[in-house]
Amino acid sequence: MRKRLVVAAAALAVFCAADASAQDAEHGKQLFATCQTCHGAKGEGQQALNAPPLAGLPSWYTVRQLDHFKQGIRGADPKDTYGQQMVPMAKMLATDQDVADVAAYIEQLGK
Ligand code: HEC
Repeated sequence: MRKRLVVAAAALAVFCAADASAQDAEHGKQLFATCQTCHGAKGEGQQALNAPPLAGLPSWYTVRQLDHFKQGIRGADPKDTYGQQMVPMAKMLATDQDVADVAAYIEQLGK
């Protein structure tokens, strides 16, 4: 009996997680308004601004890069002129939830 409850709870958790990610991408779309200036409306990138295409990047990768910009692992060296431009942009994503949401939106841009 107890085992069945655990299985039911796990199934419910998976269901809720799937539901939450749909909302996340919607919030991510709002956050992406700022990013469009350099990375393009569909995340196609703009070479003239040295901003790479983002559309379709897996969210786990985008989250890691944004965290690296926020933590000063990327874009901290004065020689990293392009990376430095991304640091204030990443810092505008105030919470881990914001980072996850914009990453979810970017991932589905490629689909
Ligand atoms: C002022 C222009 C500008 C804006 C606005 C901007 N970016 Fe960038 N972004 C860049 C540049 C330039 C790079 C390339 C950095 C490098 O060469 O290391 C970059 C790189 C990135 C990368 C790393 C891609 C990779 O594969 O390494 C991610 C992720 C990213 N941007 C996400 C975002 C998000 C999300 C936003 C909005 C919150 C945003 N950017 C807003 C200019 C911008």
